[in-house]
Amino acid sequence: AADIADQLTTVLVTEEEIHAKLEELARRVEADYAGKDLLLIGVLKGAVMVMSDFARMLTRDITMDWMAVSSYGAGTKSSGVVQIRKDLDTDLTGKHVLIVEDIIDSGLTLSWLLENFASRGAASIEILALLRKPAAAKVEIDSRYVGFDIPTDFVVGYGLDFDERYRNLRDVAVLAPHVYS
Ligand code: PRP
Ligand code: MN
Ligand code: MG
Repeated sequence: AADIADQLTTVLVTEEEIHAKLEELARRVEADYAGKDLLLIGVLKGAVMVMSDFARMLTRDITMDWMAVSSYGAGTKSSGVVQIRKDLDTDLTGKHVLIVEDIIDSGLTLSWLLENFASRGAASIEILALLRKPAAAKVEIDSRYVGFDIPTDFVVGYGLDFDERYRNLRDVAVLAPHVYS
């Protein structure tokens, strides 16, 4: 179980590609939010790596909060049932919120979060997602900042897990089917 190479098929997005894209998104976010307070909300646990790198690429002052939700559990398919495991510490009233996510798959997690955050009175809510699987969408999510559109293969790494494993990989890679079948 410790030899990762046998458990992956192909590298889909390299660490270098991720960092270059996040730099590009950081410049766009800085321009778009000039003169406004900005609250980044990371969705635990998958967004930890994106938040950690992206937030440090911003040369401006921001605040940061975290929400822990889960819809996948130990499986490879979204259950559609979103559970709050840790709520925000911040009052969203009047805040410009940028949700930071690792991936939009079915879109169910973000669709639920958008509705939840809107009901708390945020001034604006936008989404930054490193990855998106257009062919897997069950609901359309309007995401202003998207890193890469990818196929529907089950991917891991850079925060993305299978059963809590592989989050620490530097690249995003396709999980070999023998690992989960
Ligand atoms: C994963 C991923 C996104 C969500 C995307 O989180 O990090 O948050 O699923 O899937 P969806 O668009 O189909 O809803 P997960 O529920 O696995 O929790 P985790 O971040 O702790 O891994
Ligand atoms: Mn997640
Ligand atoms: Mg997960």
